[in-house]
Amino acid sequence: MEHVPVWFMRQAGRSLPEYRALRGEGSILEAIARPELAAEVTLQPVRRYGVDAAILFSDIVVPVAAIGFGVDVVPGRGPVVDQPFRSAADLGRLRPLVPEQDTPYVLETIRLLVGELDRLDVPLIGFAGAPFTVASYLVEGGPSRTYARTKSLMRAEPQLWDRLLDVLADQALASLRSQVAAGASAVQLFDSWAGALSPVDYERRVLPASRKVLHGLADLGVPRIHFGVGTGELLHLMAQAGADVVGVDWRVPLDVARRRIGPGLALQGNLDPALCLAPWPVVADEARDVLTRGRGGGHVFNLGHGVLPDTDPAVLQQLVELVHNTAVDDPATGRRP
Ligand code: CP3
Repeated sequence: MEHVPVWFMRQAGRSLPEYRALRGEGSILEAIARPELAAEVTLQPVRRYGVDAAILFSDIVVPVAAIGFGVDVVPGRGPVVDQPFRSAADLGRLRPLVPEQDTPYVLETIRLLVGELDRLDVPLIGFAGAPFTVASYLVEGGPSRTYARTKSLMRAEPQLWDRLLDVLADQALASLRSQVAAGASAVQLFDSWAGALSPVDYERRVLPASRKVLHGLADLGVPRIHFGVGTGELLHLMAQAGADVVGVDWRVPLDVARRRIGPGLALQGNLDPALCLAPWPVVADEARDVLTRGRGGGHVFNLGHGVLPDTDPAVLQQLVELVHNTAVDDPATGRRP
C-alpha cells in the first residue's frame, strides 16, 4: 500500500532511552566526532520506529566549531560562543570549510551508515544550518528570544552582515555537498529561527544566502528540504529559495501553507510536537487532520519542529503506524484512491 513517507526531526536524541544509555557525559560535539557512536545513534530511531528516513546525528554548529570559532553545545541550553561575532574583525575568525579536513568524522559516519541503510532501503538525510540561524548563534553568543543583536547588526551594518551570511552559505554548501558525496541521499537546510524576521528583512538579507546554498546543490539531483519555525509569513519567499520540499510548523495548516507556497513543491510537517504528549486519541485525530490537509501535491509527514525530550517513544511508534496504514493513491501527489 502506498503511504505518505514519515520521519521526525530530532528523532535521534533524548527522548530515546537507548540514546541516553549510549550518549554518556560530555559535549554533544564530542559524541558527533565519534563515527561509530554517531552512526549507531542515527540508526536507533530507524530500528525502533520504522521511519522512512534517517537523519544524520550531527548538529548545525559542527562546521563553525570545526573551523575553530569557539562554539560548544551546552546540554539543556544549546550552542554557546566564547567570543561572539560583533565586528568586521571577526570575519577573520571565519574561513571556508574544507569538509574532508575539518569534519572527516561526519563523512566517516555517513560512510558507515550507507551500507546498512541501503540494506534497509532507508534514505539518509544530511543537513546543515542555514546562514541566518547559524549567524544568530554567532552574533548573540547563544540561544536568544529576541535576536536583538542579530537584527541590529543586519540593519546597522548590512554589508558586514551580507559577508557573514555569504561565508556561512559557502560553509553550509561545502558541508552538504560533501555529505552527499559521502552517501547522503537527501538534504535539509535548517533555518529554525528565520521566523523571527519580517518578510522584508528575510527577503533582502537572508533569502539570497539560503538560495546560494540550495541552488548550489541543484546539480547533485538530491531532494532539498528547507525548514524553519514560525515562518507562516515567509513561506511564499522560502518557496523561491530553490528547495524541493518546504517544511512547515504547526501554526499554518498544510492546505493553507500549500496555497502560500504554490504548485510544484512538496510540503513537510506539521503535527505540533507538544501534542505528542497528549493522550493517543488526541494525537491520532490531529495526525489524520495533518494527512488530510497535506493531500494533493506531495507530503512528507513530520512534526512541526523537533521531538520534545519528554515524548513517549511509543507515541511516535504509533504515529508511524498510523501514517503507514493510511493509504494514498500516489505518494507524489498524496491523492487517495
Ligand atoms: O535526530 C535528529 O534530528 C538529528 C540530530 C540533530 C541534532 N541537532 C542533535 C542534537 C539535528 C538535526 C540538530 C539540528 C539543530 N541543532 C538545529 C536545527 C533543528 C531544530 O530543532 O531547530 C538547531 C537549532 C540546533 C542547535 C542546538 N543543538 C540546540 C537548540 C540544541 C538543544 C539544546 C538542549 O539541550 O535543549 C542542541 C543540542 C542537541 N543537538 C541535542 C541533540 C540530540 C540535545 C543535547 C544532547 O544530547 O547533548
